[in-house]
Amino acid sequence: MQITIRKIFIALSAVLIIGIAGGLIYRHVTKEPVPEYIFTYAENQSENFPTSLGAYYFAELVNERTDGRIRILVYTNGELGREADIIRQMKYGGVDFARLSLSQLAEVDPKLNILQMPYLYNDADHMWRVLDGKIGDMFLENMESYDMVGLSWYDAGARSFYVTGGSVSSPEDFEGLRIRVQQSELMEDMVECLGGVPVPISYEEVYSALELGTIDGAENNWPSYEDVGHYKVADTYIVDEHTRVPEMQLCSANTWNMLSEEDREIIKQCAVESAIYERVLWQEREKSSRERCIEWGVTVVEITPEEKDRFREAMAPVYEKYCKDNKELLEEIIRMGG
Ligand code: GCU
Repeated sequence: MQITIRKIFIALSAVLIIGIAGGLIYRHVTKEPVPEYIFTYAENQSENFPTSLGAYYFAELVNERTDGRIRILVYTNGELGREADIIRQMKYGGVDFARLSLSQLAEVDPKLNILQMPYLYNDADHMWRVLDGKIGDMFLENMESYDMVGLSWYDAGARSFYVTGGSVSSPEDFEGLRIRVQQSELMEDMVECLGGVPVPISYEEVYSALELGTIDGAENNWPSYEDVGHYKVADTYIVDEHTRVPEMQLCSANTWNMLSEEDREIIKQCAVESAIYERVLWQEREKSSRERCIEWGVTVVEITPEEKDRFREAMAPVYEKYCKDNKELLEEIIRMGG
């Protein structure tokens, strides 16, 4: 009996020693560094969504270029909270990094609304000329006034309306329809301009609201419509492409202030490179999501150019309300359409 206990003791000690030695050798051989900083990154889309893949790429680049000193842990699926809560947390450094929709950020910096006015851009290239130039840079820099550092612009394509059953092809068809919008005053006003009833709720609540019928429709880009399964509960997608709402990658100023100048440069550069990567993924996903939805039986309503003009005209009150103090900037953006 005593011999057996001794044997077990010896065996356990050997396992322990081999474990510790193995760990030390592994450390030594792989030179796995101990991170100096471990940061959090909030993302509300699923793991394979283009913006999430961009975030993973960003984290990987930063890890590589700081020789493992900075590790960024990406939390997807809104695990760290809803967009409005993430903004609040970033202001106090509770969340270090995030990718956020401009609609949500414009609630903090209302001047940002000018970049997401309905029917503003002729196409994606027009928007990128604005964002990749001095206007885009100015808005990124401006985030510092709100305790955040704007790092780069991510693509989120064009947003269109979708409804459960029925057909909608002209502004009049929106009369009385309850349409979910982001928690954004501009988006509420936009739906009101069409005679609809805006229902501002968070992204995470839209599926069940459509399923329960507490709303008649919503609006989003093809990849989101597909990825979170809205096509299952709102099967008519109206390609009116009323807005292009870009997204921003940000760092909390609290976090930024503890970093060296050199690390800030690395992070900024990695953010820009991850944005280029995300934009390529976005284009592919926009196409494949649309194709998949059609294959699954979604009814696609194309809007005629004449009807599109009528949608645009219906938006005059929002231009008056949101751009009256920035007329020159608005004109400059419109001019950049070519
Ligand atoms: C897009 C965007 C999300 C946002 C969502 C929304 O899908 O990528 O970040 O939350 O729109 O409609 O709320």
